[in-house]
Amino acid sequence: MRGEHSIDSHTDLYGVIGDPVRHSKSPIMLNKAFREAGVNGVYTAFHITPDKLGDFITGVRAMNIRGVNVTIPHKQHVMELIDEIDADALAIGAVNTIVNENGRLIGYNTDGIGYVRSLKEEAVASLGGKHIVVIGAGGASRGIVYALLKEKPARVTIANRTIEKAEQLARSLDCGGTEMHVEPNERLEPLCGEADLVINTTSIGMFPKVEEAPVRGSWMKPGAVASDLIYNPLKTTFLKEAEAQGCIVHSGLGMFIYQGAYAFEYWTGKPAPVDAMREIVLSALKQS
Ligand code: ATR
Repeated sequence: MRGEHSIDSHTDLYGVIGDPVRHSKSPIMLNKAFREAGVNGVYTAFHITPDKLGDFITGVRAMNIRGVNVTIPHKQHVMELIDEIDADALAIGAVNTIVNENGRLIGYNTDGIGYVRSLKEEAVASLGGKHIVVIGAGGASRGIVYALLKEKPARVTIANRTIEKAEQLARSLDCGGTEMHVEPNERLEPLCGEADLVINTTSIGMFPKVEEAPVRGSWMKPGAVASDLIYNPLKTTFLKEAEAQGCIVHSGLGMFIYQGAYAFEYWTGKPAPVDAMREIVLSALKQS
């Protein structure tokens, strides 16, 4: 029954692995989702160091753990230990969700699609034909650019401090009909002025250095979308300045919620109770 959450001998096990992991809000969010949707599951956090990753996967098989979220530093290494990798996760080169289908461990990546779903629900209905600037060329940027390209924007520009990394990333992706450009960070001011959407995938502006910003909000076109993957703080300096400039702002909380929502849906086959998940994460963030 909705709202009830009694653990019994039929309860399915789930969890997140990472090193570190104790800061994770995933257990609060997914246990809330199970309660809301009436799923007999329990979700916890496992602190797994890199030398124990193989033992953990053996444990998943032995105990029939039904679903696992994977975070730093295991997203790449875990790929060698599971049975099957979804085509998108393979192209991105990272797995953040494992589904245990009767003993067969299948890896997915829900970060990029989670980001795009939250962007479309919260900030911009369609990305078709848009000019997008992505700041940063690390792991997070890769998943996001991959998912963005499926939405057929007119142009994606990747700006990065180390230009070679942006070039490598651009070269490795199939751009379809989208124009792909690579630029150094020094060019961000004019680039932001032309963009419909600017996305910060770097850690610049994250707690505790909250006064820092990857670009000035005043560089943006009023009415454009400013998006930041950071959710601590919920409104970064970049987003505050962009809001003052008349932009629509989109915080990293949505990506976190929707990557979890996709994981929930892959595991249970039920639609994720997204509003309840957001509400409990927001209140947990306010307390910490
Ligand atoms: P993640 O997996 O979170 O994307 P990452 O792979 O370490 O983390 O990538 C971090 C990104 O943020 C990189 O693009 C990095 O730029 P470099 O490729 O030049 O290292 C960028 N970044 C981080 N701190 C930065 C800073 N202070 N100034 C400019 N770029 C920064």
